[in-house]
Amino acid sequence: MNIDKIIQEYPEDYCAMLEFAYGKGMMSEGGTEAIEEMFKDVHVNQKKCLDIGFGLAGVAYYLAATFGADITGLEINPWMAIQANKKISAALKNLLHFVTYENFPKIPFNNNEFDIVYSKGVLVHLQDKQETFNEMYRVLKPRGSLVINDWLSPSNNLWSDGVKKLCETEDLTLFATSEQGYLTLIERAGFQNIRTKNVSMQYSNYNFQIAEKLRDKKIANVFQKKFSKKLWRDSVEGYQLISDAMKNNEIIVMNMYAEK
Ligand SMILES: C[S@@+](CC[C@H](N)C(=O)[O-])C[C@H]1O[C@@H](n2cnc3c(N)ncnc32)[C@H](O)[C@@H]1O
Repeated sequence: MNIDKIIQEYPEDYCAMLEFAYGKGMMSEGGTEAIEEMFKDVHVNQKKCLDIGFGLAGVAYYLAATFGADITGLEINPWMAIQANKKISAALKNLLHFVTYENFPKIPFNNNEFDIVYSKGVLVHLQDKQETFNEMYRVLKPRGSLVINDWLSPSNNLWSDGVKKLCETEDLTLFATSEQGYLTLIERAGFQNIRTKNVSMQYSNYNFQIAEKLRDKKIANVFQKKFSKKLWRDSVEGYQLISDAMKNNEIIVMNMYAEK
């Protein structure tokens, strides 16, 4: 599997742009509201968690600060692990650890280590997800929880023309997996008590709000100075496209839960 391609798709300046749009430490939409919704029925308090694809680590910082969760983050991008480790506040030093793979897709931890394995907005980048689900199962303790948020497609291996256009404009490779496709992968890994919650309308609204925020004159000026006019135009158009695609069921945003 070519993980270099995923690393190339998140250069530092693009990550800075995403953080500007999504908020501090975030590379996915919805901020703390989306995180709270994702973990609403999950007991995170002081639990040992693994964050797959932590990005700029906003989700991990929030869960550690709010629930005292002990979080290990795992990234394919070594630059992100360096950044995230640097930015841990003194108060959270004992709760957060950020690392990269040694031998992708093997998760570099022992069997039965974590109470919760979670991932927000990550697995859509991965073509072959089965090994990763098998690995997530292996490192979870018995009865441990899997918590996934991702962008899904209505049919396996098929995005709409609008989503294809978005991938071209943003130079992103997203793999189309349907809800049924996801359920099969999760079941095959051995998980039970699988449930899903469609959060597309909330995410459509988050993306609409980002497009609106970027259209604001003052914010547009700051964005254009910091990045470029072209990136501003592409971003406003991109977030509007994503919002519409989520409203029209071309992108389905799902929170998924399962138990080992
Ligand atoms: C859209 S960002 C989301 C980051 C973070 N979860 C958030 O919500 O802010 C996707 C991240 O997943 C990482 N990534 C993609 N595939 C991965 C994998 N198989 N394992 C770990 N990280 C991965 C990318 O490097 C990128 O940082």
